[in-house]
Amino acid sequence: MVKIGKFTLEKPYILAPLSGVSDLPFRLVSREAGCAFAFTEMISGRSLCYKSNEAQIILKSCAADQPLGIQLLTHEPDIIARAIDCLAGYKFDILDLNAACPVKKVIRSGAGSGLMRQPDKLKELLTSMVARSTVPVTVKIRAGWDSSSINAVEIAKLAQDCGVAAVSVHGRTRKQGYSGAVDYDIIAKVKKSLTIPVIASGDILSGRLTKRMFDETGCDVVMVARGATGNPWIFKEIEEFCRTGILPERPALEVVAGIMERHLGMNVELYGEARGVLHFRKFFGWYTKGFSRVRPLRMRAFLAKTKQEMDGFIGEFRSSGCEHMASIQG
Ligand SMILES: Cc1cc2nc3c(=O)[nH]c(=O)nc-3n(C[C@H](O)[C@H](O)[C@H](O)COP(=O)(O)O)c2cc1C
Repeated sequence: MVKIGKFTLEKPYILAPLSGVSDLPFRLVSREAGCAFAFTEMISGRSLCYKSNEAQIILKSCAADQPLGIQLLTHEPDIIARAIDCLAGYKFDILDLNAACPVKKVIRSGAGSGLMRQPDKLKELLTSMVARSTVPVTVKIRAGWDSSSINAVEIAKLAQDCGVAAVSVHGRTRKQGYSGAVDYDIIAKVKKSLTIPVIASGDILSGRLTKRMFDETGCDVVMVARGATGNPWIFKEIEEFCRTGILPERPALEVVAGIMERHLGMNVELYGEARGVLHFRKFFGWYTKGFSRVRPLRMRAFLAKTKQEMDGFIGEFRSSGCEHMASIQG
């Protein structure tokens, strides 16, 4: 158990915020497969204040979707208090600020990882969040802007001084985006410099890589991101591997197809048929990754427009007899 302010995290493996991915259906299938805490994808402070449709969808939750963290994206101190007030009717346990997003459009405004280069602005944002929020506040940062400006330790200490309850560190720079080596050393340094919990992110793709992250950094919690796409069972794998050193069996085709059907159904319920099926196409690719001879089917599924068509492709996958290829686990 890890204490994050007044909130107690039951297990040290959580689902990361993933824009365009970690919506309610994705969180529910992850929870069903063993995830004990999940973040929403990032939500812009302005769209929250304007109560945009997109914001309402991102915030869509339910009783089974608990405990939950909400992640805010903003560079505007005067928006923060209003955005937090707009969350008054929602049930969640942690409020996170995104200081890690590398996307050009985001950093151009000074938000996301742009905040790593504006410590004063970040301090102002976090101070008002901590003052206003009724739940513990956390912040997600990167190793630094680029390899010549690694400042995660300074930024993490600043955050701790502002009163945040935990810091998440993605061990890559803004310049690296989502590829290249994860800097375990910088996460270890952040951990040594703080008294609050440190949540590590970067290449948490298997039980083995999770153990490596714990061992090499001393982090308190790991955050599963791309490792959970199409593989919600990773949470069980992490738990078992960290406990026993043995990798569990991969789920059978039948189990994967069953989760796909439920995921598709929830997508259609949340977004309506056209958007729900479109959104599910990438999940079809992720769920079927690692199975042999599935490529032609995947190409056809990428063109599906209706639930009936997509259900048909899932059915074909189920009866295909495709097998897991040699281990893709890291
Ligand atoms: C498609 C995608 C969307 C992401 N969206 C967010 C986001 O909304 N907020 C955030 O803090 N990080 C976001 N991230 C970063 C992840 O949370 C995570 O830190 C990163 O992918 C590194 O972990 P991994 O190497 O295990 O995937 C996103 C990453 C990806 C690939």
